[in-house]
Amino acid sequence: MIDIYAMHAEIAALAKQRDAVILAHNYQRAEVQDTAKHVGDSLGLSRIAANTEASVIVFAGVHFMAETAKILSPGKAVLLPESGAGCPMADMITAKQAVAFKAAHPGVPLVTYVNSSAAVKAVTDICCTSANAVEVVRSLGVPRVLFAPDRNLGAWVASQLPDVEVIAWDGFCPVHEAVSPEMVVEMMDLHPLAEILTHPECRPEVNALADAVLSTSGMLDHVASSAADEFVVVTEGGLLHGLAKAAPGKRFYGVEPKMVCRDMKLTTLEKVRDALRDMTGEVTVPEDVRVAALASVERMVSVG
Ligand code: 13P
Ligand code: SF4
Repeated sequence: MIDIYAMHAEIAALAKQRDAVILAHNYQRAEVQDTAKHVGDSLGLSRIAANTEASVIVFAGVHFMAETAKILSPGKAVLLPESGAGCPMADMITAKQAVAFKAAHPGVPLVTYVNSSAAVKAVTDICCTSANAVEVVRSLGVPRVLFAPDRNLGAWVASQLPDVEVIAWDGFCPVHEAVSPEMVVEMMDLHPLAEILTHPECRPEVNALADAVLSTSGMLDHVASSAADEFVVVTEGGLLHGLAKAAPGKRFYGVEPKMVCRDMKLTTLEKVRDALRDMTGEVTVPEDVRVAALASVERMVSVG
């Protein structure tokens, strides 16, 4: 068993020595979240990565997140402590497929979820996250958009913007896709007073049962201000740690079987320590790809 407190101290000392900032996604292991300077959703962490003055960014998350940090902060070393941490949804579309998708719909802008590779972002008109997807599509002011790779986030956007036709790629997050409406209804029966919070990566028929459909940080803000004392939380289980901190005393229930993103859980405290100590796991993006991807990420950041 590792001594978590000793490991936090060792990581803090190494971070100081390396002039590093540690960022962790809301789905990371609790002890990894607790060693980070900033914990957040994809949009919040991108903004921090763009503005940090640290020389090194350690990204406790998955590959596309570290890549996005590198796109925004090319002068910094961006370390991904576990190089095998990917995102199955991001892998569901290649740059070649994205180009063909566009070619099949001339003149229709491609909106791409940040859960995608730098190469896909490089052929994208504008990126979005789950927190700003509706605003990003609205900002375009067009009757039709292409949306990749998440068909469920695309369906959520379409439900919020009835005047826009969303032509979605057929990708999905396996963790959220696995939740059925029956699983949520079972939780509603068990906890009749609870608010139902779902992530837009859930299937449309699951989101239809929700009191609120929110990004991970949207859920954190919501539970702190909501009048409700109990919540059924339909997203990856790592968020439960942050929710308990955001609203102490309130109760949070995940669905069964538990929602676990295997890739998010690959990062451990030891791997964060090793990356900082040995400066390993550096993520690079070819400069031509980075510059092209930056345009679509910056367009998103300017929308909100
Ligand atoms: P957000 O934290 O931006 O809601 O993203 C969820 C997710 O699946 C990240 O991989
Ligand atoms: Fe990808 Fe889903 Fe894991 Fe997020 S939770 S990293 S979308 S597989």
